[in-house]
Amino acid sequence: MGHGRERVPGGAGVVARPVAPEWLALRRAADHQARAGAQGLLDELTGHLRDRDELLVVDVGAGTGSNQAWLAPRLPGPQHWILVDHDPALLGSVEADGVSGEIETERAVATVGDLAEVLPPDRDVVLTCAALLDLLRPAELDALAEVIAPAGRPGVPALLSLTVTGEVALDPGHPDDATVAAAFDAHQRRDGLLGPDAATTMAAALRRRGAHVELAATDWVLGPADEVLLRRYLDDRAAVVVEERPDLDSLARAWRAEREWQLQAGALTVRVGHVDLLSLPSDAPQQTRTGR
Ligand SMILES: C[S@@+](CC[C@H](N)C(=O)[O-])C[C@H]1O[C@@H](n2cnc3c(N)ncnc32)[C@H](O)[C@@H]1O
Repeated sequence: MGHGRERVPGGAGVVARPVAPEWLALRRAADHQARAGAQGLLDELTGHLRDRDELLVVDVGAGTGSNQAWLAPRLPGPQHWILVDHDPALLGSVEADGVSGEIETERAVATVGDLAEVLPPDRDVVLTCAALLDLLRPAELDALAEVIAPAGRPGVPALLSLTVTGEVALDPGHPDDATVAAAFDAHQRRDGLLGPDAATTMAAALRRRGAHVELAATDWVLGPADEVLLRRYLDDRAAVVVEERPDLDSLARAWRAEREWQLQAGALTVRVGHVDLLSLPSDAPQQTRTGR
């Protein structure tokens, strides 16, 4: 049975962009379903970890624990998890007790930049995150890459899941889809955030450092059965477009209204591009590779 305890009670993280817990609850099922696309990466990771007695898994940007809920039952043997997030409120609502098996969970309020201090020295870790990379800036991504594949030292295995790619396909198409996408992606890249460039940037950074990197598509495919998530996704997409480009207000309203009719008619599907990244240390024995 899993149990939780605080590592840094009330810790010192700065919440720069609070993520709403309702949003994390709403997307959890779609995230978990999408991760079937990365089964090959998971098999390779578990093969790599086969001989370890107890895994020490560090989940960065853990939020309300969705990544642990999906990944812990799929990793072998006893596990000790450290859930790291800069938002103490999200970490406080993790229900790690719901994770079954020999799993111990602690929480650390810290930012990606503080990660090196959170990791226990002289312990092999498995690093993971989900839906985090696109929220980072280049310096934070470099800090994460340095933990995974440090210069001059052996690296650690890492599974970095569900990074948005910016590829969004709505069916049926609409003449304004491209305008909406361009404004949305510009917003994702605001203030130096990596947004849709995050996964390719991280893959390049890790490969430069000598790690073996593989990618697998973990797209959301949303249809009539996902009406609530889809409605929220469309609402947010239209709102973000107007925030980025106030001059597109009436275009975004008309686009959103037409999408709503299609949604209510059960006639809309949306593929939202995501990608999972597996990084293994350069000295790890390699299996046959099938990713992109
Ligand atoms: C989109 S949510 C994903 C949460 C969770 N991994 C999941 O899959 O549901 C991104 C999470 O990363 C956290 N986060 C964002 N930037 C961070 C940073 N620089 N350091 C630590 N946590 C960060 C947010 O607080 C949030 O919990």
